[in-house]
Amino acid sequence: MDLPDLSAMETFGNRIAARLRAGDVVALSGGLGAGKTTLARSIVSALGHEGEVPSPTFTIVETYDALDPPLVHADFYRLEHPDETEEIGLDDYREGAALIAEWPENAGGFAHEPGCLSITLEIAGSGRKAIVEPGADWLGRLP
Ligand SMILES: Nc1ncnc2c1ncn2[C@@H]1O[C@H](COP(=O)(O)OP(=O)(O)OP(=O)(O)O)[C@@H](O)[C@H]1O
Ligand SMILES: [Mg+2]
Repeated sequence: MDLPDLSAMETFGNRIAARLRAGDVVALSGGLGAGKTTLARSIVSALGHEGEVPSPTFTIVETYDALDPPLVHADFYRLEHPDETEEIGLDDYREGAALIAEWPENAGGFAHEPGCLSITLEIAGSGRKAIVEPGADWLGRLP
């Protein structure tokens, strides 16, 4: 999918948000500056959050309990081992919520979960490209 500018990113975030359910994971892969946090912010805002959406690079987890579905935005960049997700209490955060995961591979990956929408972002000229791989629960949901 071509995402030539920030407005394309916002539209894509809207489409994901409209279809997001508790238990889902939106796994955002891609190198530094690929647009992971930008797309995550679009989703959080599209779900109705007003105000800032801080990047969880240092806090690792930001929660948005008042949204429908409730949302957890995580950035696993700083994890050194997937086991650290247990120390963070990721499973407790995920209870009844959808998860947006940046650097999902550092948390062991989520692509084996049927509710995982895997998105790999790449720089393409001045814009971005996304490779989208839906888990079984997403088939038919994201046209
Ligand atoms: N589709 C797009 N077209 C043009 N610029 C974009 C697009 N998406 C994001 N950007 C810009 O790219 C820059 C980096 O985006 P962002 O911070 O979201 O990347 P990131 O993948 O989270 O990087 P990091 O891993 O370093 O946190 C920002 O300045 C953002 O505005
Ligand atoms: Mg980021």
